[in-house]
Amino acid sequence: MTTATARAFPNIALVKYWGKQDEDLILPVAGSLSLTLDAFPTTTTVALDAGARSDAFALNGAEASSDATRRVTRFLDRVRELAGSEARAVVTSTNEAPTGAGLASSASGFAALATAAAAAYGLDLDRRDLSRLARRGSGSASRSLVDGLAVWHAGDDAHSYAEGVSGPDMRMVIVTVDTAQKAVSSRAAMRRSALTSPFFPAWISSTEESLAAMLEACAADDFTRVGRITETHALRMHAVIQSCDPPIRYLAPTSVAVFDAVAALRDQGLEAYATADAGPNVAVIVRPDQAEDLRDALQGFGSVRLVGAGAGAQLVAPDSA
Ligand code: DP6
Repeated sequence: MTTATARAFPNIALVKYWGKQDEDLILPVAGSLSLTLDAFPTTTTVALDAGARSDAFALNGAEASSDATRRVTRFLDRVRELAGSEARAVVTSTNEAPTGAGLASSASGFAALATAAAAAYGLDLDRRDLSRLARRGSGSASRSLVDGLAVWHAGDDAHSYAEGVSGPDMRMVIVTVDTAQKAVSSRAAMRRSALTSPFFPAWISSTEESLAAMLEACAADDFTRVGRITETHALRMHAVIQSCDPPIRYLAPTSVAVFDAVAALRDQGLEAYATADAGPNVAVIVRPDQAEDLRDALQGFGSVRLVGAGAGAQLVAPDSA
């Protein structure tokens, strides 16, 4: 039996991935850019079990749901195809994100799974190919292979991977305003946006423009420009989501209050910019020297956590027996 363990962190996009041009290969309609965090890791062990007839998946000490297990099996089928193996696997995963914080993400999950499974099945993949592989589990996972700021390229299967970008040093304050499970998964909402939002074609071109501007801002080390693009772009994504039929609204009244509070703090000289994924929780970027002030200022809106840039997925115990 061959075993490998990997650890990966979630990432938060500053230019969002929202929509697929190929649902099977998980190719995005446009590129995106994110910050890999240094908190809330997922640690996953993949142990091959040649005698087993199906894969097993345990998450946080309990047997995972059949849906989650099916998704892991589909992913492992891809790995087995690459490795020319038929062996089933026992997958054991632990996620350190607080329940409902919106950070128990498929990004850290599939980045860790791709890294551990590739090693357990004996695939020799470089980081680019690991990013492409993780993408097949969940699009945003492609970016959790990369340290810090990562750009995930749109394109065909061979060219759609994430790689590192240098940019301004920043911290992020995560404001958890609501821990309830979201009513519509991001995968379903993404599909509904593409099928029913009249704004979707404009969203694609605007994301391409935001990404080009974001890459320029990163290259210029311009935090202010990075922040402005981040906030405008996030609200555009939520506008698209709200324009679906039937509509979806992820932002709660408190989420909107955090965006307003961040704008008011900027007027007072605390330069921060907000973004939110497919849920009510808000992530706010800030320069390192103002990070603690921002954390203190946002205490009243929910539980807050100050995080920084973290490492891409890594093997932590590449033991084999
Ligand atoms: C709003 O990567 O979870 O967080 O590819 O269908 O698994 P699938 O979607 P997923 O979507 C993430 C959407 C987002 C934006 C982002 O992370 O870029």
